[in-house]
Amino acid sequence: MATIISQFSLSVLRQSAGKLKAGDLVSFPTETVYGIGADAMSNVAVARMYKVKNRPTSHPVIVHIAELNDVDYWAKEIPENAVNLMRDYWPGPMTLLLRRRKVAGDFLTGAQEIVGLRIPANNLALGLLDEFKALGGKGIAAPSANRYGAVSPTTAEAVSQELGEFLSPNDQILDGGACLVGVESTIIDCSGENLKILRPGAISAEMIEESTGIVLAEVSETKIRVSGSDKQHYAPKAKVIVDGQSRSGEGLIAMSDIATPEGVIRLAEPKSIEEYARVLYSALRMSDNQNLEKVRIIPPTGQGLAVAIRDRINRAGALPGDQDLYLQSED
Ligand code: TXA
Ligand code: MG
Repeated sequence: MATIISQFSLSVLRQSAGKLKAGDLVSFPTETVYGIGADAMSNVAVARMYKVKNRPTSHPVIVHIAELNDVDYWAKEIPENAVNLMRDYWPGPMTLLLRRRKVAGDFLTGAQEIVGLRIPANNLALGLLDEFKALGGKGIAAPSANRYGAVSPTTAEAVSQELGEFLSPNDQILDGGACLVGVESTIIDCSGENLKILRPGAISAEMIEESTGIVLAEVSETKIRVSGSDKQHYAPKAKVIVDGQSRSGEGLIAMSDIATPEGVIRLAEPKSIEEYARVLYSALRMSDNQNLEKVRIIPPTGQGLAVAIRDRINRAGALPGDQDLYLQSED
């Protein structure tokens, strides 16, 4: 079990940065979800992080960096559109895929020529990244801090539930409270001729247009389910049913204007799209803690963040065997 830390000062963050530098794993909050961090320069540390997650090693991982100046270390041939996006939305819930420099090892990129970079908008994460940089660190590789295929954690307690038994006392979980956004970052592929949204998130197609002048599809919401991988994603143990009529004994996640029928266990009733994103994963987790067999989810309507929420709901409801990578949507 990892050491959980909930009181912070510069010296505490320095110690956590030292742990990362020594090859230990540190889970930290971001504005989206909690990540499980490893030194991005260390093949050994990243390999252990994959093991803790039970994640296939061919999956690439996002490198979190402290500031804009760090982009050049990892990436080359950075298009002007990408620079505009970084300036406008970093620190923030956006990951850019860029052409890698050789320092971005195959163990980070899944042996592809692209590296994923992000500056998160969370003070603890930024403090940790600064201290890590002061110790000579170049970036923190961090996927969401859940077991492969499971629901991403939005609290330190959820990290502990997901990964606690696989972590050692030298590893740390930094408790920074609940994540403000609640769904993972928007992933934008900037490595090819045209920008592409590979995973929708809080940085919407409209916001990308404002920054770059380019109109993108909000991501095709069905296209990403391609057979070939071995698990659904963002999935609780309960069976997820999308839309339809609630039945007694089921859990229900829906906007607050939808009433709770008798016998139905209401897991969340968000009043806004932002709140929906913030509570979705903890509501899915609650369904497991209550040993529910079925959870019905009525997705929100609308664009922007609602697109990201529908994407995650559809994936949570996908059947085992559906593709779970956001990589290379098929055009
Ligand atoms: O909000 C987030 O992005 C969170 C927080 C912790 O930053 N991280 C996160 O990481 O969601 P993860 O590993 O659970 O999901 C990252 C996705 C994966 O689907 C992966 O395939 C894709 O990003 N990805 C990362 N690096 C990539 C690369 N070099 N090429 C293609 N896809 C990449
Ligand atoms: Mg993940």
